Amino acid sequence: MTVEAEAQPADTPDTPFHRIGGAPVFAAICNRFYDLMEQDPAYAELRAMHAPDLAPMRAALPKFLGGWAGGPRDWFEANPGRCMMSVHKSFAIDQAVAGQWAEAMRRAFADVAPEPADLAAAIGDILADLARGMGRE
Ligand code: HEM
Repeated sequence: MTVEAEAQPADTPDTPFHRIGGAPVFAAICNRFYDLMEQDPAYAELRAMHAPDLAPMRAALPKFLGGWAGGPRDWFEANPGRCMMSVHKSFAIDQAVAGQWAEAMRRAFADVAPEPADLAAAIGDILADLARGMGRE
């Protein structure tokens, strides 16, 4: 058990979601991710695949990631049985665009800098792997 986990208040669940700061931190990371996608031409291809209005994604992604990391299950309850890999099957995701997603997400984590840093880095690594797994070879 890590020092951070030992310091956790007894009434706070010991999940990655709660340990890195809960819903406000997931919202900040996802907003930074979509800001980067909108502002940095390095992610133009990734941006073009998304709908013109990113507001629905700014709401959906933190809900999905928060539930995935052990937080409230709202997204999963609203979308029973929806598989993330299947959701993405209809998009032409090659390794270049998967790499754009992974890099923008890594930068979003770095810019928000949630603590504990080792847990944040581990989550960022897993998301980057998931994104690459969605890219066709
Ligand atoms: C591999 C690179 C990826 C690309 C190119 C990509 C692209 C997209 C696109 C174009 C949409 C539809 C958005 C819209 O209509 O505006 C979408 C939806 C979504 N993506 Fe991704 N995505 C990628 C990776 C990921 C990863 C790794 C995750 C999470 C682990 C994720 C989570 C989501 C979620 C939660 C939605 C909304 C689904 C819904 O509520 O119906 N995406 N993605």
